[in-house]
Amino acid sequence: MSGPEDDCRNSGDLEAEPSPGSISGKAESAEMDANIKRFSAEPRAGVTRTQVIDRGGEGTRAVHGGERQKGGLKARATLDALATPIVQTATFTFRNTAEIIGYNEGTYDSFEYGRYGNPTVRAAEEKIMALEQAEDCLVSASGMNAVTTMLLALVEANGHVISTTDCYRRTRQFVTTILPKMGVRLTVIDPADTDELERILKTEGGTLFFSEQITNPLCRIIDTERIGALCKQYNCISCIDTTFATPVNHRPCTLGCDLVLSSGTKYLAGHNDVMCGALAGKKEYIDKVRKLHGVLGGVCDPHAAYLLIRGLKTLSLRVHQQNANAQAMAEFLDKHPAIVKVHYPSLPHHRDHAVAMRKSMFAKGFGGVLSFEIKGDGNPWSQETFDATARFIDALEIPYIGPSLGGVETLIEQVRVIGYYDQPLEVRQRLSITNGLVRYACGIEDAADLIADVAQVVDMSLSVCVRLCRAGPPASLACLVAGSLVLGGAWSLAAWYCCEAVTDSSPDCDAILVSRAGA
Ligand SMILES: Cc1ncc(COP(=O)(O)O)c(C=O)c1O
Repeated sequence: MSGPEDDCRNSGDLEAEPSPGSISGKAESAEMDANIKRFSAEPRAGVTRTQVIDRGGEGTRAVHGGERQKGGLKARATLDALATPIVQTATFTFRNTAEIIGYNEGTYDSFEYGRYGNPTVRAAEEKIMALEQAEDCLVSASGMNAVTTMLLALVEANGHVISTTDCYRRTRQFVTTILPKMGVRLTVIDPADTDELERILKTEGGTLFFSEQITNPLCRIIDTERIGALCKQYNCISCIDTTFATPVNHRPCTLGCDLVLSSGTKYLAGHNDVMCGALAGKKEYIDKVRKLHGVLGGVCDPHAAYLLIRGLKTLSLRVHQQNANAQAMAEFLDKHPAIVKVHYPSLPHHRDHAVAMRKSMFAKGFGGVLSFEIKGDGNPWSQETFDATARFIDALEIPYIGPSLGGVETLIEQVRVIGYYDQPLEVRQRLSITNGLVRYACGIEDAADLIADVAQVVDMSLSVCVRLCRAGPPASLACLVAGSLVLGGAWSLAAWYCCEAVTDSSPDCDAILVSRAGA
């Protein structure tokens, strides 16, 4: 019996020559029919398999007892189970040689070996196909596994990848350090610059365009529709990572793009308890990627696939709540003096707001992630701004501090510390990863609680100061000290300003106090 490494059904065009001993091609079909007839197993006369096992030693009974009769009640109940069964197996078996020959010939449909596919994983793939409105889908071990396998499968040696400036750091690392070893050229453009994309495709051509929608961590927007149309016109594969947007909000396959990719670890599975990735889109490309995936081996475990399926059932509910939470948080922070800038596409000052608001682009909202810049001392690269940002994060009560996003729990990170700790200043400056940049990934908690939690930190020094100021001028000094301790120099300056305003009985300060007290 041939092992999986000799399998002719799954090796496909990755093998230059048919493997020795494999049987393929129309010319041999007569031989094949004869083989199928020859090897179709007849039951051994007079004895059933169960009897053979029951009469065996305890070792044989321990290994095979209760499991060799696969039909009947157990099979039917497995099919009737409401939840998709976790088919926890590394290998699939065949009742006789005729079946495996039929499998190799494509006339008998089954699975053979876990690296090439599994029914639980396939159920997850079909659910994602339905959500993305895509022809096919491949689920794998992680989002990065999906990214790397997709790029290796679809970009030939000396190909040309076009990508965008803001993107997940490990993706950038792969395209800038690994693909060049295969002679692959990389061109990086601004996410909004589709004119530049057109110029590049026209003058230099491109093998594959890859970007994110919405980008990580600065929440930029790409014009998926124009990118899809341009790539089609110039024969370049388009693949969009919609980890941030989710298929609830944005579906590139319906907007003219070839492929959509996602870190299923995030919103799709949704509970911060499983790693997986998904690539969906045109079948001809998924077929190619699946073949290489069977060789590279970054498969999704059946149990992880089950968790993914379970998470996907509530994707829509969760994402609606996360959209609403992020929108409310973005609006709250956008008005706050301690925050320099909020990056969230629905805000009118967002760089890509006009494209983001186009009706065809985002169906329900902009996802649960927003990023924003803490003011600190006003210098985004200073130690003081770094410290003020760390103090802000550490003072929050609801979010967990940690990487990732898209789960039911809110997560927060100082991007400089979690994703870019080892990166020198010039790299961070080029990528706009300031010391004050915070990524806030909303969970499904109540928006009012998340906002009150943030408000109690950003307003703490302000409200303390205003009350102190009301007590008399000497307290203004205490206000400065309190402000510095909590949020840093710029914030204490804001508080000082407010003290001055209180002295002048400014209605602004009263308004701040009243609105925050009610928040
Ligand atoms: C946009 C984006 N794509 C891909 C990935 C990689 O996914 P994973 O962590 O599942 O490998 C991440 C991870 O954070 C991400 O944010």
